[in-house]
Amino acid sequence: MGMYEDVFRASMDDPEAFWLGAAEGIDWDVAPRRALDSSGAPFHRWFPDGRLNVCFNALDRHVEAGRGDQPALVHDSPVTGTLRTYSYARLRDEVAAFAGALAQLGVGRGDRVVIYLPMVPEAAVAMLACARIGAVHSVVFGGFAPRELALRIDDATPKVVVSASCGIEGKRVIPYKPLLDRAVELASHKPEKSVILQRPQTPAELGPDDLDWADLVAAAPPAACVPMSANDPLYILYTSGTTGKPKGVVRDCGGYAVALHWSMGAVYDIGPGETMFTGSDVGWVVGHSYIVYGPLLAGATTVLYEGKPVGTPDAGQFWRVAADYGVKTMFTAPTAFRAIRKEDPEGARAADHDLSRLRYLFLAGERLDPETYRWASALLDVPVIDHWWQTETGWPIVANPVGIEAAPVKPGSPTRPLPGWDVRVLDAAGKPVPAGVDGAIVVRLPLPPGALTTLWKDDERYLSSYLSAYDGYYLTGDSGHIDDDGYVFVMGRTDDVINVAGHRLSTGSMEEALAAHPDVAECAVIGVADALKGQVPRGFVVLKAGTAREPGEVEAELVRLVRERIGAVASLKDVAVVAALPKTRSGKILRKTMRGIADGLDEPVPSTVDDASVIDALRRGGPGDRTS
Ligand code: COA
Ligand code: AMP
Repeated sequence: MGMYEDVFRASMDDPEAFWLGAAEGIDWDVAPRRALDSSGAPFHRWFPDGRLNVCFNALDRHVEAGRGDQPALVHDSPVTGTLRTYSYARLRDEVAAFAGALAQLGVGRGDRVVIYLPMVPEAAVAMLACARIGAVHSVVFGGFAPRELALRIDDATPKVVVSASCGIEGKRVIPYKPLLDRAVELASHKPEKSVILQRPQTPAELGPDDLDWADLVAAAPPAACVPMSANDPLYILYTSGTTGKPKGVVRDCGGYAVALHWSMGAVYDIGPGETMFTGSDVGWVVGHSYIVYGPLLAGATTVLYEGKPVGTPDAGQFWRVAADYGVKTMFTAPTAFRAIRKEDPEGARAADHDLSRLRYLFLAGERLDPETYRWASALLDVPVIDHWWQTETGWPIVANPVGIEAAPVKPGSPTRPLPGWDVRVLDAAGKPVPAGVDGAIVVRLPLPPGALTTLWKDDERYLSSYLSAYDGYYLTGDSGHIDDDGYVFVMGRTDDVINVAGHRLSTGSMEEALAAHPDVAECAVIGVADALKGQVPRGFVVLKAGTAREPGEVEAELVRLVRERIGAVASLKDVAVVAALPKTRSGKILRKTMRGIADGLDEPVPSTVDDASVIDALRRGGPGDRTS
């Protein structure tokens, strides 16, 4: 057997021994004697008797080991023209100071703190400061509109919100403070205080419940690390589900620390002193795990990049970052590479930079299309590694673990299940399908350490969303197959979740936004293929009888409405007014059929469609740059 098979087998045959071994990579206040507690199954708990502090493991222990001067985090911000490097000692001190400031505001163990920040180092500082004092952070992606932020504030009920005066999108400065104020106005729960990081591009006017980050920190004594139970929550991260109400994925302290630390070596081949650059956002799981926690737990250097891969100033920024910081492992979403390729098809900008230290490119967040795979492989001359995971899982389910043993790549497959993940493919009746046959991709319980433990304050929804479809299995929501060599192929979602430029969004929540327009009788939103973003949403609405509007007027209002309610990140730019939606005889909207027609597949028009306007609109396509 190869190394991969040995390690995978060990994780399946004796998970207790396997994960207790991996737990040795973490410094515990009380080392766990047991790996798994299944007494509350299907709720499983990892390292139930362990105690640790995740911030201590990410920062203090590296300083205590004599590596305080090593760069921990580099903030590279072409959009502001600034560059800041934090050594481990400096980052620990800044985190301890901000943790002290939070403690002075009365934030303690178990209290929630919502973080709504752009890609500034203070985002990592705020997250780690929460971890230091046992508070539970919930980072909300900056591209979400006030209403989405308000939904998360109401669910997480934070004592404090941490935000900034503004974010920067290309050449645009986006004032954040008015968005935060509006969200607090909309929310039923009112946080006691907001801490605002003032940025010189657009400082904010502070109100009576607002505090200036710099003033607060200057007056606070540093806080020490609080030992936590391994099963205490470290953070809540909201993600899109089928409905407009986001799901609050809960991550524990111990399992997450062990799994991430282990994955840094086994999957990404990154050890102490090496540099990882993850081009994502701290608001997504990829940012939590591989911009902040993973690299720091491993004692590596992480690059927190503020900007897009293209545009400001050019499509060579990822190469510049890789060269400037000697990046060994780069990780981003395929869409970033499609954007770079669109601006620089020959990859000429890569030749301007010394990429000799780059060893791997990891891609995830959406399906890696073969074209992008080939382009990136030819350009970089390093392994291009697709891998598959989700907000819920916290770290990859399926990957090519180069730190254990690199397997030959099959384009289209993120390769094989990682140790700990017992991946199966089932048919609708719950029976395993033969190799090569598509079905629902599920994972046999218990999930390994690091995966979600439940949904915040909603065990019922956790059970109904993930564990009730197939007894004993976690439903990933993706379909696909496993081939004869054990390679997994992920084909797409089976629910209303779409992936737009690597951002996970719910068509259900967009439908809720469209339905809120007074002229809309009914609507459907589907994700259609897009050459740059992978998928983009398209909306179809039927207006109430008697509605008389100028051509294009309602459509424009609806596009604006979705942008206002969900945020620019929804990218819904195309809404068509149609006479009727295709439905089954029992009245269910045929979204799958609509997707097929819009993507140019040879989808038969259902016999129930008695008005052709929707079929015409689907075939016409929208303004997006579509591909089938
Ligand atoms: N704050 C405010 N607005 C934001 C935002 C943020 N943090 N993030 C995105 N937006 C806005 C964008 O400015 C854009 O607005 P516009 O419609 O007015 O132009 C809109 O939301 C859509 O954003 P996006 O889908 O990201 O498109 P884009 O054209 O701005 O950028 C890419 C496209 C591919 C370059 C970019 O999405 C990217 O680099 N993605 C890959 C990396 C990544 O983040 N992956 C996530 C998981 S790994
Ligand atoms: P998120 O929770 O935002 O990480 O999105 C998770 C979803 O993105 C998965 O359920 C998949 O549908 C999709 N996804 C992530 N990575 C991949 C991949 N490598 N290949 C195919 N789909 C992916």
